[in-house]
Amino acid sequence: MKQEPINLVDKHDRRFPYLRLSITDICNFRCEYCLPDGYQCSSKPKFLTRDEIQRLVTAFAGLGVWKIRLTGGEPSVRRDFSDIIDLVSHTPGIETMAFTTNGYRLRDNAQIWYEAGMRNLNVSIDSLNRELFHKITGHDRLPSILAGIEKSLEVGYDSVKVNVVLLKGINENSLNDYLDYVKGRPVTVRFIELMQTGDNLDYFRKRHLSAEVIRSRLVELGWIENIRVNGAGPAVNFTHPDYLGAIGLIAPYSKDFCAGCNRLRITSTGDLRLCLFGNIGIPLRDLLQSDDQKQALQQRVMKQLNYKKSSHFLAQGETGLIPNLSSTGG
Ligand code: 5AD
Ligand code: SF4
Repeated sequence: MKQEPINLVDKHDRRFPYLRLSITDICNFRCEYCLPDGYQCSSKPKFLTRDEIQRLVTAFAGLGVWKIRLTGGEPSVRRDFSDIIDLVSHTPGIETMAFTTNGYRLRDNAQIWYEAGMRNLNVSIDSLNRELFHKITGHDRLPSILAGIEKSLEVGYDSVKVNVVLLKGINENSLNDYLDYVKGRPVTVRFIELMQTGDNLDYFRKRHLSAEVIRSRLVELGWIENIRVNGAGPAVNFTHPDYLGAIGLIAPYSKDFCAGCNRLRITSTGDLRLCLFGNIGIPLRDLLQSDDQKQALQQRVMKQLNYKKSSHFLAQGETGLIPNLSSTGG
């Protein structure tokens, strides 16, 4: 991993080489825990334009950011998604391009996106059982999404990860399915603990499950916890000599989860979010209107970073501003 002098350091001595950039709030899926009623279009939302994205990414790259993840909503609903990949991946200083997707356009676009400069992808698949997948997401698309992953492996992406939100009574017994899946594929499956958001309190109470259940089972089965490398992000990874792929656990309710925080977020309308669950959104859009605003933008970001708190307050039930993750990107 690249280590560069970086201007983005907070009061808790954390560095932020990694920016998660939401390019749309829209999502065509209806995951039970996120958008159970589907995306509700309010007035016509005005998502960042390509010019604004270019200025934003250039300014952050100048502050030492070298990894960008495009998120949403579902980022690939944007018709100019390939152009956005192209412009971000060709911005000087950006070394690692990643995106998070529900996978519904992956099979047909894996090659095109790779050619535009995309190299890493995370696909959300909460069940490998077709009926259950349909029930959770509202879409009977599991086979084509899995085909999209095969295609991505063929094309040669640097990393392919699958995100699974752990749901009590729904997919809690699915570990074996995923173990079979990673046995012969170089894919990392990451189990994410369900997080409480503004919209999902009842669902959260009913379905939240600690990732400890997966951890203890993995250890029983001979999986080995990897030593965390600096700047590796919040997942704890496990590997096993008989498996090509790996398993990760993301437990936002665990102690010290935030100590390794290395990312900042931008919403699809250009607000800086210091924390996924933070209470402040700092508008940046007024400084994305011309190239000569770059320094002012960088100064605003550096000033705001002083306010980044040491941790989220999820355990106290404070979910901050977000109604659901499609509005900020997970
Ligand atoms: N808790 C945990 N994960 C969530 N995601 C969306 N909403 C939640 C939630 N409330 C996941 C998606 C995707 C990733 C970006 O975040 O399934 O994998
Ligand atoms: Fe869409 Fe992701 Fe939310 Fe599911 S979790 S509804 S795929 S944004």
